[in-house]
Amino acid sequence: MAQGTVGLFDSGVGGLTVAAEVFRMLPEQRVIYFGDTAHVPYGGRSVNELVTLADRIISFLCTQGARYIIFACNTSSAVSLQVLRDRYQVPMTGLIEPGAAEAVRVSTAGRIGVIATEATVRAGAYARAIKEISPDCEVFSKATPQLVPLVEAGEIDTPRAEGVLRAYLEPLKEIGIDTLILGCTHYPFLRRPIARILGTGVRLVDPAAATVRAAMLNIRRLGLLPGDRSHPKTGANSAGHLFYVSGPVGPFASVVRRFLGCEPGLVVQVNLDHKPKTTGG
Ligand code: DGL
Repeated sequence: MAQGTVGLFDSGVGGLTVAAEVFRMLPEQRVIYFGDTAHVPYGGRSVNELVTLADRIISFLCTQGARYIIFACNTSSAVSLQVLRDRYQVPMTGLIEPGAAEAVRVSTAGRIGVIATEATVRAGAYARAIKEISPDCEVFSKATPQLVPLVEAGEIDTPRAEGVLRAYLEPLKEIGIDTLILGCTHYPFLRRPIARILGTGVRLVDPAAATVRAAMLNIRRLGLLPGDRSHPKTGANSAGHLFYVSGPVGPFASVVRRFLGCEPGLVVQVNLDHKPKTTGG
């Protein structure tokens, strides 16, 4: 497949865990990523706010040449995807259905835990998607709002992170879950301490890989992105990937560098409320 442009977005650095899968599975595609760090966290926001934020970002990504959108945010996938699919022609894939299918596939006893933001849990999207595939599965959902601020602050393997995780996870372990969905794209950053607390008896499901696989099949089925050279070259690194943030550039650029192991080139700050403002990264 010739190079095209896939747009991804999240409230912050979490969606980079999905971008990593795009780089792995769709290396020929150029990525435009939007991290809405001026509005992170998304998890405590209302449906209206979440739809408005995602709408603005998708519209922006489309003007930047995105021809396929991957929601790299569970909260937006759970709350906004359905509404926005009706407003845009650009095809979109979210994390919930692929993540639910993957959890059902790997679960041995049909006792599936979900940790996610308050908005994702309130929307009930994972429970619904799992039950649709396998009505006999039991789903135990838990809102874990303290985790996103920890990850955004770079607190991954600290005693404080361990304490917060234990308080959230031990009740799920006691209930006897055999599988846990990491239902927020920030949480794979905490995979190591989560695995340590839950032990080997609980399988961890990060929906990112299954989601990008679903998007890849869709992209091929639709015959999309062939020979797309329409993207602007300004600000792109050697692979042409572009990272936009609505908040400060520095902390985000350093996570891109550390986590994706790639030089982000320019990270561009954009305020979608006003006229875009560009700064070097
Ligand atoms: N990473 C996002 C998610 O997957 C959003 C988390 C947040 O900002 O609260 O849900």
